[in-house]
Amino acid sequence: MLNSNLEILSDYPFQRLRALLDSEPASHGLTPINLSVGEPQHPLPDIVPAALTRDLSALSRYPTANGSPAFRAACADWLKRRYALPDALLDPERQIVALNGTREGLYMLAQVVVPPQKNGQRPAVLMPNPFYQAYIGATAASGAEAVFVPASAENGFLPDFAGVAPEILARTALVYLCSPANPQGTVASLDYLTRLIELARQYDFVIAFDECYAEIYDAAPPPGGLEAAMALSGGRAGDAALNNVVVFHSLSKRSSAPGLRSGFCAGDARITQEFIKLRNYGCAGMMMPVVEASTELWREESHVEANRTLYREKFDIAQSILGNRFGFYRPAGGFYLWLDVGDGEAAAVKLWREAGLRTLPGAYLVRDTGDAVSAAAGKPYLRVALVCELEQTREAMQRFSKVLGG
Ligand SMILES: Cc1ncc(COP(=O)(O)O)c(C=O)c1O
Repeated sequence: MLNSNLEILSDYPFQRLRALLDSEPASHGLTPINLSVGEPQHPLPDIVPAALTRDLSALSRYPTANGSPAFRAACADWLKRRYALPDALLDPERQIVALNGTREGLYMLAQVVVPPQKNGQRPAVLMPNPFYQAYIGATAASGAEAVFVPASAENGFLPDFAGVAPEILARTALVYLCSPANPQGTVASLDYLTRLIELARQYDFVIAFDECYAEIYDAAPPPGGLEAAMALSGGRAGDAALNNVVVFHSLSKRSSAPGLRSGFCAGDARITQEFIKLRNYGCAGMMMPVVEASTELWREESHVEANRTLYREKFDIAQSILGNRFGFYRPAGGFYLWLDVGDGEAAAVKLWREAGLRTLPGAYLVRDTGDAVSAAAGKPYLRVALVCELEQTREAMQRFSKVLGG
């Protein structure tokens, strides 16, 4: 009766976290602080409430299937500004897909690009390990085999896709890459990105560049998939320039608006057009007030700069309190600490019991492939999302330091 492809899905990390912590006694009168979910808590930009309430009569009509022309143009213009892309590279009408958050887009893409068979075999989808869980949900639903490529301290937290066996690459339909990476904050270099695109074209697979943390960075703006494709084509636009490439962007982190559910993907026109077609059959259009708010947010940068400043201040706080304990490093992008605490689950329980801190064991983001590499990639770690306001972050880091010592 049920789809057996879904059997590889275990409990979602936050369900596992609830099972781990909810039976534990509450911490001694301390106000709990939630650092487990990557849900930005910075103030919502003023643009959002104003745009959402401007024309509520739009709610009495079905939304359009793919945002509005102004929304698609705002997304394309932002991409061009952010990655210094030539004007002719993206046709907003054909190459921008409006998404109710990127999670659904990352999930749906697999249904668009994974064929029933590739080179006469079961297709494979490659993803880093640890990884954002939507990738495996997408893979399972598509019927492909999930192949987990380690992203551990040994390889600088960057998956070595070129090192995957040629027999697997030959049946690979899709690769997910997250840069800046959740959870480790690693930023893939332009060189890494161009080599990955070359590999994709050699074996004819699609790359989903998950760039939803692209605007949360420390020193330098992370390079992106479209920029790498441009580097490969010598800066020349034209449809073939984006072959095999799809990038995903979101307002959840950039604009601290995770509840808005607003993102988009862009890239290879063959894929985006098929994607737009499939969304017509099975997905809800983005609510029109959300389309309006999103259009304005993609055209506004000062709130994004303010967000980056806040994250930098929080990393300063974490750095000054944790120093070089727990393998602390300042990630190039994203807003997570990926701390080596020896045993992430034991530390999460101790931090909850004794400090009222909710953190996520690294193992919950890793698929255990039964070898030492996958164990080392997750078990020792704890993911700490620096999403609260400054003073709460300071308080959390002080409690963390006191309870775990180090
Ligand atoms: C790596 C990664 N990709 C995608 C998403 C999805 O973001 P949204 O659906 O809010 O755009 C998240 C959210 O936490 C994420 O961490």
